Amino acid sequence: MPLPIRPEDFSSVIPTLAKAGFAGVNVTIPHKEAAFAICARIDDFARRAGAVNTLIFTPRGIEGLNTDGYGFVANLRAHGVNPAAGPVLVLGAGGAARGIGAALQDEGAQITITNRTPERAVALAAALPPAKVLPWESRDAALGDYALLVNTTSLGMVHEPPLPMSLSRAAPGLTVADIIFAPLETQLLADARLQGLQAVGGLGMLLHQAVPGFEAWFGIRPVVDDELYRIVVA
Ligand SMILES: NC(=O)c1ccc[n+]([C@@H]2O[C@H](COP(=O)([O-])OP(=O)(O)OC[C@H]3O[C@@H](n4cnc5c(N)ncnc54)[C@H](OP(=O)(O)O)[C@@H]3O)[C@@H](O)[C@H]2O)c1
Repeated sequence: MPLPIRPEDFSSVIPTLAKAGFAGVNVTIPHKEAAFAICARIDDFARRAGAVNTLIFTPRGIEGLNTDGYGFVANLRAHGVNPAAGPVLVLGAGGAARGIGAALQDEGAQITITNRTPERAVALAAALPPAKVLPWESRDAALGDYALLVNTTSLGMVHEPPLPMSLSRAAPGLTVADIIFAPLETQLLADARLQGLQAVGGLGMLLHQAVPGFEAWFGIRPVVDDELYRIVVA
């Protein structure tokens, strides 16, 4: 059930949902930081990301999780990609990059962050030591040094410009992951496939990030399989 809520109403509306019988909610842009602030308890990923995407209403108050990173890594693994196969270049330093960067580090990956606004890349790297920072202008030229490229910017999404990124310097084993799920096939993924590189889309992350919340709300751990993909895409 989609519930569009104005930012100024978020902290008053959410507790009423608990009273109305909801088991919990997923939270997306622009509410993830506000969700963090109203939780009585949060998990370690949410603490490190400074953002919450899953709320669980319990008799002891609201619990908050950040499952973006879990969903991203689970989706990589479902595609046979080892997140720690080599250095990772993360494009973007917003809310999604925070959760994904932390999860990749937990898997043992070395991450480098590049972002249009350099201050945000520096701040995120400082929050996730020993992450490195690369100037945004150097992303094409440096690509050959990485085993995994992750687009966490909103570029490439419907109604947004495409991501300006050349893959011509990619190493042959590069995996390109895009967390955008609308459209299912972004220009970045199409470019990667054209070049014979493995490409991983964002819909799988969306489905996998929902698993821990669904299990907490309903007591059933759903399986992300081809049938679920078909139902969601239809
Ligand atoms: N697949 C999934 O399950 C999933 C989960 C979460 C998010 N997402 C998607 O991921 C995207 C990012 O989400 P978010 O929460 O991280 O958003 P966010 O916090 O608003 O961050 C947006 C990022 O995109 C960059 N950006 C925006 N416009 C740009 C431009 N014209 N040129 C260069 N960089 C630009 C921003 O750079 P600056 O810092 O320079 O502004 C920032 O790094 C959204 O499209 C969202 O739908 C997907």
